[in-house]
Amino acid sequence: MKLNRISKSTLYGLLLSSFLATAQKTNLEVDLTKSITKIQPTMYGVFFEDINFAADGGLYAEMVKNRSFEFNAPLMGWSQPNSSTHSMNKESGLALPMRTEGNPKNADFCRVTINNDKAYQIINEGFRGMGIKKDAKYNLSLKAANHDNAIKKIIIQFIDANKNVLGETTIVPSSSDWKDYSAQIIATGTEAKAQLKISFEGTGIIDLDMISLFPQETWKNRKNGLRKDIVQLLYDLKPGFIRFPGGCIVEGMTLDNRYQWKKTVGPVEDRETMINRWNVEFKNKQAPDYFQSFGLGFFEYFQLSEDIGAQPLPILSCGIACQYNSGELVPMEELDPYVQDALDLIEFANGAVTTKWGKLRADMGHPNPFNLKFIGVGNEQWGPQYIERYKVFAKAIKEKYPNITIVSGAGPSPDGTFFDYGWDELKKMNAEIIDEHYYKNPEWFKENAKRYDNYDRKGPKVFAGEYAAHPKGVEDGLKENNWLSALSESAFMTGLERNADVVYLTSYAPLMAHVEAYQWAPDMIWFDNLNAYGTANYYVQKLYSNNKGTDVLSITEDGKALTGQNDLYATAAKDANQKELIVKLVNTSAKVQDLSINLSGNGVESKGKMIVLTHEKLDDYNTLAEPTKILPVEKEYKTAGKKAAVSLPAYSFVVLKLKLK
Ligand code: AHR
Repeated sequence: MKLNRISKSTLYGLLLSSFLATAQKTNLEVDLTKSITKIQPTMYGVFFEDINFAADGGLYAEMVKNRSFEFNAPLMGWSQPNSSTHSMNKESGLALPMRTEGNPKNADFCRVTINNDKAYQIINEGFRGMGIKKDAKYNLSLKAANHDNAIKKIIIQFIDANKNVLGETTIVPSSSDWKDYSAQIIATGTEAKAQLKISFEGTGIIDLDMISLFPQETWKNRKNGLRKDIVQLLYDLKPGFIRFPGGCIVEGMTLDNRYQWKKTVGPVEDRETMINRWNVEFKNKQAPDYFQSFGLGFFEYFQLSEDIGAQPLPILSCGIACQYNSGELVPMEELDPYVQDALDLIEFANGAVTTKWGKLRADMGHPNPFNLKFIGVGNEQWGPQYIERYKVFAKAIKEKYPNITIVSGAGPSPDGTFFDYGWDELKKMNAEIIDEHYYKNPEWFKENAKRYDNYDRKGPKVFAGEYAAHPKGVEDGLKENNWLSALSESAFMTGLERNADVVYLTSYAPLMAHVEAYQWAPDMIWFDNLNAYGTANYYVQKLYSNNKGTDVLSITEDGKALTGQNDLYATAAKDANQKELIVKLVNTSAKVQDLSINLSGNGVESKGKMIVLTHEKLDDYNTLAEPTKILPVEKEYKTAGKKAAVSLPAYSFVVLKLKLK
């Protein structure tokens, strides 16, 4: 289907281009001789935040929701259909949450009294169900204390909506004290909405906690691991960095629920569960069951960064809660612990194993440093309160770790009073990199391909840390990731790359969303419990990131950069390692456009590659059912001598790759 579509538009392009050959041709000049500026290896990265079930229920492969009974409603996610709470089955049994004083970080557990073991069961619903695949193995673990050793067996089964069993295992609880048990279930069918049923043999009382289930196959088959299919999509992007853990989640609605990295490291069961701020942020999208288990914590973020070859870019609270919510401020004289968190984080990432935090990293299985180079202070903060606090952080970090690059922020908008104030003040302090955010409509993105052309070359560098084109009048959800939004981002990104001397880091946001549990759209990757796919926006990011180059070259029409004249946008780069010329061309118009590109210098080899991302309908988008509707297509490209002729299909983003002579 896709090939038909491509070849049709190419055919159309060829016919039209020969018809309009002389009249319409745009002549471009690429200067192969001069590197204008270096492109940072970090140029294209990813922004990760636990929004839209991105961590718990998404990337983090745990399948049991509320495994530790620590949600505010301790039995949320669990049901007991035949329990004593149902009058018809009075006698069967009952699970009740209990609280112990032993471990304040994981205080709650579940006490189950079984009166009739033929009738009683407790069921976990997963995160909008559990995705299981036929013949795949699932590792179960739990803690149990079997009072008086009365319970002979715990039977754990996958069930579907009709209660059919799709795989099972049993555990013999052999101790009346708390003890860890593990077992494996092999799924006998594929089901996107399985649930986990637990029943018992024997009557009496048993305590249960940390009931956890992971697919055996996770990314790198790690325990407490990540969903392999989703990490693969990230890996394929070849991102220069991963920014984590957000976003607003860093700040918290109040300081109390800000993200505190120290609570997310060490043994998983000791990581204190917390309500996710996106749980209640939007009135029309309440997600009362959205909590952070922190099973995906800072160690795992660093490990993920390393696994996919990306620089870790952690962002920390600067002592200001989200200014859209409470805006709570930590008094200046109480800022120390926040600053210490930043210093300790650097030690955790890079410190010797003999240091306190370096030792913890080693104990968690990574004695080698993670080689952290960047740290972010604050997310979308604004005003003098931010500047005041940033100053303290910057001083302390630079004093102890002069080689760490600090990322600061210019607030939530790409312009306006707060933005200007933030930039002016940060510039005075010689800030190194400033984070800018823009969630705007596609027109804005096209118009802003010039945005960085006039930025001060001697000032701070830019982190385009959160951006996405939000198409107007489109139904909320995955339809927002339409081709119009992606195409306009590809046009805008020519301006990011052309200005690589100013723009050092960029990331689309948010990164991912569960199709049944999202708060924010558009998103780069969508998934359900079984599958994940890249949107058209994902492929735009991938084409930029995979074809980045090392040096910006000039590409001009009549001596001017292409920033939307005749709906054309362009950037050119050289990859000094691959000895390659990479030209990125965007045509946002509804007509084919023919280009003739003059290549100065030694020229290029005659055979190259052309990667075309195009689609005839701007409102079309990829889905789980049709994940490849909008997909780059690679073909051979031939040129002669020092002129390259390109016919750009309507609504297209094209990457041309030619070996340099
Ligand atoms: O990306 C979603 C949110 O948008 C982020 O959490 C926040 O930084 C921004 O407002």
